[in-house]
Amino acid sequence: MIINFNKVSYFRSGKTLLDHIDWQVEKGEHWIVLGLNGAGKTTLLNMLNGYIFPSEGDAVVLDHVFGQTIIADLRRKIGWISNALQQDIPPSDTPLEIVLSGKFASIGLWDIVEENDIQQGKKILEKLGISHLKERAYSGLSQGERQKVLIGRALMADPQILIFDEALNGLDIFAKKEICQMITSLAQEDKTIIFVTHNTEEILPIFNKALLLKNGRVHSQGPLSEVIIQENLEDFYGQDVDVFAHNGRFYISAK
Ligand SMILES: Nc1ncnc2c1ncn2[C@@H]1O[C@H](COP(=O)(O)OP(=O)(O)OP(=O)(O)O)[C@@H](O)[C@H]1O
Ligand SMILES: [Mg+2]
Repeated sequence: MIINFNKVSYFRSGKTLLDHIDWQVEKGEHWIVLGLNGAGKTTLLNMLNGYIFPSEGDAVVLDHVFGQTIIADLRRKIGWISNALQQDIPPSDTPLEIVLSGKFASIGLWDIVEENDIQQGKKILEKLGISHLKERAYSGLSQGERQKVLIGRALMADPQILIFDEALNGLDIFAKKEICQMITSLAQEDKTIIFVTHNTEEILPIFNKALLLKNGRVHSQGPLSEVIIQENLEDFYGQDVDVFAHNGRFYISAK
């Protein structure tokens, strides 16, 4: 079992942000998390990363029992790629520094790096096709280049779980395709992928499970073929929608 959430709730400022979440992720599964703005997706992922703790219920991630574990050890096993992370990166940091900071799951590079870390960081930049940018300041990179740097940062600690939280926003169709190919090969390398998006056409064939969140609760979860279907989605959104599948991708539009 990679993730095991049992009746997990999270309260903040008098609000219930997560409400009795039961969620089990097994090895070999790759999950899509869907939900409207404010549904609780990012809150759930922040908990997965150990940035927040359950107010009620039990959470176990990669055998780390929340409340009985050193959370920094867990964080190094999880790569987190999010659009929101972009604004926290120090603008003058270079892609190589940012990738290296992934070893410590830190924002900014504060720890001492060794020569073999630098070699590994360079190798990752090469794999992502952005070696030529390694000395440039982050602030001078395009959106797509920044996303690739953040993927590199997430890969630096060789994590077991990779979380993508709306990570493809703002990318052109070709950059998106390239990153989708990258995600596909990471899934094949035995990493568990958790992918949050509002754009269902980003649901790649590697994904086999979906979690639909609504108002902090699980609306439905299970195999894509049972969850991403018109009847369930209309109930989920409370609106009429059209769903089509084409080349293994899903397209949902408001009717
Ligand atoms: N620290 C906090 N205190 C109070 N409310 C919060 C806090 N953090 C988040 N929220 C609220 O919790 C709800 C869920 O937020 P969350 O960021 O998890 O949504 P989301 O599903 O990721 O939405 P989006 O698709 O817009 O990113 C929102 O209504 C948000 O305003
Ligand atoms: Mg969010």
